[in-house]
Amino acid sequence: MAGRYRNELNWSDATPRAAFMNRRQLMAGAGALAVGSIGGPALASLNAAPSAFSTDAEPNSLKEISNYNNYYEFGVGKEDPARNAGALTTDPWSVKIDGMVDRPGDYSMDDILKGVSLEERIYRLRCVEAWSMVVPWVGFELADLLNRVGVQPGAKYIAFETAVRPDEMPGISRGYLDWPYREGLRLDEAMHPLTIIATGLYDEPIPNQNGAPLRLVVPWKYGFKSIKSIVRISAMEKEPPTSWNMANAREYGFYSNVNPEVDHPRWTQASERLIGGGLFAKRQPTQMFNGYEEHVASLYTGMDLKKSF
Ligand code: MTE
Repeated sequence: MAGRYRNELNWSDATPRAAFMNRRQLMAGAGALAVGSIGGPALASLNAAPSAFSTDAEPNSLKEISNYNNYYEFGVGKEDPARNAGALTTDPWSVKIDGMVDRPGDYSMDDILKGVSLEERIYRLRCVEAWSMVVPWVGFELADLLNRVGVQPGAKYIAFETAVRPDEMPGISRGYLDWPYREGLRLDEAMHPLTIIATGLYDEPIPNQNGAPLRLVVPWKYGFKSIKSIVRISAMEKEPPTSWNMANAREYGFYSNVNPEVDHPRWTQASERLIGGGLFAKRQPTQMFNGYEEHVASLYTGMDLKKSF
């Protein structure tokens, strides 16, 4: 990927982490957490107790999470998305759900959020470029949505697409990738309780540069699988084409499970650089399935992880 490690030297850690932790304790007391404009019944179920799936690693600051991004539709530099993504119109928003589902259609944000349980999930995010962060997402399980639209028997994969808005996204005309940005998961991966659609970050609506108004988060896979600003979700029988695999199949596989033993052809994946760790911080060891091995290893029983990388 281009733009690797750019801006690294300017990284500043102006982290209101302590403030966040205090806020979380307060919110636990209040029993609810306000998620921007997403109100109504969905909020009542936003649990004060931490999710069993959350890591207890310290989250990166909102500033770090929203100023060091990969979102090629807005440019390939790490600070380009923060600079340019404000132009993205996220309201109204609708998602086309099609393919092998019982209830296909164009779903508005209201339709999608109706009745879902929003939860905070503090997940480790590991980019294929060998940097990582810890992100306190707010979202809901993708399985909730898929169950509502009814995935038909015979469907084996779920495909996703990002919006293509040349007028709002300066990266589109640059042709960095073959747009739309496309991703896909096997159905059992898509239905796994760790797989969420995030709509918020900390206690705010998700910033545009992080994939507003809704993006996928699959924490045991390299970050590029976690597609942003989704406008289409399709259930299908065959493995869907995916952007990075189309761009370079030798370097980016369909599975892209985080694996310290399978190096990228151009760099090691055995260790990673934690964003915000400071310029002289030691790299940390990469964890198998990014630390989610106990939850997901069984999805890949009998599979050669070096071949199906
Ligand atoms: N989704 C779209 N549509 N376009 C992108 O360029 N980049 C991916 C992923 N989702 C990308 C995308 C990559 S490489 C990573 S590491 C994560 O988004 C980064 O998510 P973050 O910016 O929220 O940390």
